[in-house]
Amino acid sequence: MTDQVASHYSENPELADVIARNLRSAGSDLKKLTTADFATVDEFHIRGRKATLELAVQMNLNANSHVLDIGSGLGGPARTVAETYGCQVTGIDLTQAFCNAATAMSEWVGLGKRASFKQGDATNLPFDSKTFDAAMTIHVAMNIAAKDKMYMEARRVVKPGGIFAVYDILQGEGGEVLYPVPWARDPSISHLATPEQMSALLIGAGFKLRDVQDSTEESQSFFERMTAQMAKTGSLPVAWRLFLGDDFPTMARNQVRNVTERRIRTVSFICVA
Ligand SMILES: C[S@@+](CC[C@H](N)C(=O)[O-])C[C@H]1O[C@@H](n2cnc3c(N)ncnc32)[C@H](O)[C@@H]1O
Repeated sequence: MTDQVASHYSENPELADVIARNLRSAGSDLKKLTTADFATVDEFHIRGRKATLELAVQMNLNANSHVLDIGSGLGGPARTVAETYGCQVTGIDLTQAFCNAATAMSEWVGLGKRASFKQGDATNLPFDSKTFDAAMTIHVAMNIAAKDKMYMEARRVVKPGGIFAVYDILQGEGGEVLYPVPWARDPSISHLATPEQMSALLIGAGFKLRDVQDSTEESQSFFERMTAQMAKTGSLPVAWRLFLGDDFPTMARNQVRNVTERRIRTVSFICVA
């Protein structure tokens, strides 16, 4: 199952090189890049960098914080948090190609010392108990069947009183998800929980739920804007196409229907360890 998930995401093992080539051909000087310059490339979730910042502001972070990002992808959320709060972020991700690209991209923007990445599985974290001041996970659990294990591991590695911030795609009340979607080409690697199941899982792992925010309407506008832009320019968001391949336009169209018909919802959970 984890092999299937990793190969869904990593069609291209040389991601950093391909991203660098695309940025150069779009006129960017890699030596002058900032995290904001590749926000459309590396914040691989609905509502992008804005959603990361909304989550981070609730995590009680300061320059001394050490944060874990579970399912860190290309490292966009980790770099955004490291840069905004001047803190240390460790990312863990199943997909080795993403960890390699995340490491290279952090060097490009001078964040190599503050954002580091390691390959690993969210359901079996390679860290000692009570290591992190806070943890976050953005759009990862939809690929994980054993969410109970994932959240128990998060609870184990966060210090007591620390925040665990979750922003995920959940099963809505509007019916079955239409595939392909960016996290799965078919239901075999898709495991969506309902909002009620998520709350129960997080509480079951030992967290206290401080806040729950549903951002589905804003997510609908996000996809409407993205597909309108694709129709207008005839081009696709570069990086998403790079690692999701030619299915991406179909995935984006399906996501408009999935979110409009409330087959999916986007919800954040702020939990206290
Ligand atoms: C949609 S991407 C989101 C990446 C990142 N959180 C972001 O928002 O930019 C989902 C990520 O979850 C990772 N992932 C899926 N299952 C995982 C697991 N069991 N353990 C760790 N990472 C996992 C995938 O490799 C992929 O990088």
